[in-house]
Amino acid sequence: MFRRPKITVVGAGATGATTAHLLALKDLGDVVLLDVVERVPQGKALDIWEAGPIEGFAARVTGTNAYEDTAGSDLVVITAGMPRKPGMSRDDLLKVNAAIVGEVAQKAAAQSPDAVFVVLTNPADVMAYVTWKATGLPPARILGQAGVLDSARFRAFLADALHISPKDVSAFVMGGHGDDMVPLVRYSYAGGIPVERLLPKAELDAIVERTRFGGGEVLQLMGSSAFYAPASSLAEMIAAILHDEHRLLPLIAYLNGEYGYSGLYVGVPAVLGGGGVERVVEVDFTPEEQAAFARSVGSVQKLLALLEES
Ligand code: 2OP
Repeated sequence: MFRRPKITVVGAGATGATTAHLLALKDLGDVVLLDVVERVPQGKALDIWEAGPIEGFAARVTGTNAYEDTAGSDLVVITAGMPRKPGMSRDDLLKVNAAIVGEVAQKAAAQSPDAVFVVLTNPADVMAYVTWKATGLPPARILGQAGVLDSARFRAFLADALHISPKDVSAFVMGGHGDDMVPLVRYSYAGGIPVERLLPKAELDAIVERTRFGGGEVLQLMGSSAFYAPASSLAEMIAAILHDEHRLLPLIAYLNGEYGYSGLYVGVPAVLGGGGVERVVEVDFTPEEQAAFARSVGSVQKLLALLEES
């Protein structure tokens, strides 16, 4: 008969715990928060669960250090790994996080072989690839979060410049989740009107630049990596999967010939539903957009090559 979805969140740091909190508030399913650090996931999960009577959610939220407790999950979210410190790029985290994510993915997949995996740990494009390799699962069941977050920042800045609600701004960012990500102005709309008709080019250029360094801006201000908007991005993707919504979202997906690339994960618009990534949607590029996307994918390829070497 029917049962509540089971969601495992690996990593009880700021992003993992905030994600667990949002999943509970939205009552998307029962949540297992797992971390290697003892007592912390148990404490945070208990704290979140105790808000249930006030917030009115039925979600059971538990914390653990044991993978057995994650068995039979429908969805596994990977946030485990080192976060960025000021002065660090996402790429500086490559080797240490590849080791952590590889191990986590393998252990989680052994318990939940039918789950969809959503990866947030940076550098996220490469960590999605690491998860795919470590689990041996079909590539469509592994995806990464970056585009929803980068696009949310882009949309927030556009809405602010236009003095309108962010609800009315649709925009997306493609490429790797690095400083050379590609916010696509030409595909950005406010209430259905192309933003290029509403804002001068210089202002749009400044917004694109701010979007590219959106994560860095938060990091510089508070000395640690962003987690509220990243957790919201994860929650939106998780809802799309658990409700089989067929959302068209920018996300890190496996490319099998789309955009001329194969065998790697990178940020593209894709349809997200119950089984994971249903299909990658290809858009037309101007020569400049094409060059920017190729540069961004090139950065992801460089990281993959570095990883293969080690
Ligand atoms: C960011 O952009 C966490 O990479 C993430 O803030």
